[in-house]
Amino acid sequence: MGNPDGPGAQTDRFFHWLQSHAGVRHNLSVSGMVGVVRPPRPSRREIDRATTSTLRERLGELLGIDPSRIYLTHGATEGNALVLAYLARTGRRARGSPGRVRAWMPEYVPLWEAALASGFSAGPARGPAAVAVVSNPRNPEGGLWERREMEARTDGDRAVLIDETFREFTEAPSLAAPGHRGWWCTGTFTKAYGGDALRVGWIVSPPEEAERFRRWHTLLTDSVGPASLAGAIGCLEARDRLLGEARSRLDRYRPLLARHRPEAAGLAAPVFFDRTPGVDARRLAVRALRRSILVAPGVYFGDPGGVRICLTRPQFPADFAAYLRFRDDETGRRSDPRPVQTALRAPSLRPR
Ligand SMILES: Cc1ncc(COP(=O)(O)O)c(C=O)c1O
Repeated sequence: MGNPDGPGAQTDRFFHWLQSHAGVRHNLSVSGMVGVVRPPRPSRREIDRATTSTLRERLGELLGIDPSRIYLTHGATEGNALVLAYLARTGRRARGSPGRVRAWMPEYVPLWEAALASGFSAGPARGPAAVAVVSNPRNPEGGLWERREMEARTDGDRAVLIDETFREFTEAPSLAAPGHRGWWCTGTFTKAYGGDALRVGWIVSPPEEAERFRRWHTLLTDSVGPASLAGAIGCLEARDRLLGEARSRLDRYRPLLARHRPEAAGLAAPVFFDRTPGVDARRLAVRALRRSILVAPGVYFGDPGGVRICLTRPQFPADFAAYLRFRDDETGRRSDPRPVQTALRAPSLRPR
């Protein structure tokens, strides 16, 4: 994926695209549950009592990980940046250069660009590389790579940064749990928990790096404030309610999407990459705006062959129907729904 303007340019355009059109009627570009699921508000007393170690311990219990491998951050973005800067420095010291990064496009572009900004050079999709970066579940494709697949794909890579931002939309365990050598995982309260206002995330280091990374983390980050700590602890206490809501929403919308895109039947995250063979997907996204529909063009994920749509908002059924009508008009093809095998009754979408 080229970066003619330097690392960060594509990420900047991506966020500008999302923010500058956020007022559209049919917003299919919101990837988290903000405003849909509501984290509990901590009381004064809970804020006074919240500590870093309590949150690390609770996360440790949940993830099945020794808390000494868990580091709190202000979100997954910060976690990814810290890990990548650490790995780049380690590479420089040991071998004179950070080495190469690889990714599997389409990929969440800030992950890729943060690696370039840290000093890694762009490597081919085939390994081995100094670091592989991968969102899992995959953003924007929505699939989940199980442990075996991750091992096979990253075989030979010195380190792997696995961004598990969307993992809690699924029942899948964190790939950090068994402490795979070289595997780093990041997570966040900003997506499935709807905790945008909290700004809390975490990093899990591989066991062999826990001690050295602790110093790096302590040196470079501010600690998470008590109100955010208490909010995150509250999210874990209300986890069943919050994740139940987030997951059941995905369970309702997935079959609705899969009636038109059968490959979406196995989505693990509320994102989907809608490929548009023979059509300029960027132009499609620009034209969608004229009908007040916001999707994210694939160029922002290193793959110009489609657009990303998100399945998070309560308006998804109507928004998706509007998108389908628009897309059919643009491509001259009809999106006839197909029956899908599901225990859930999908809200009906009127075919045209
Ligand atoms: C794969 C991925 N990682 C990280 C983030 C950002 O997470 P945070 O808001 O916790 O920094 C996003 C946001 O959409 C994302 O999709």
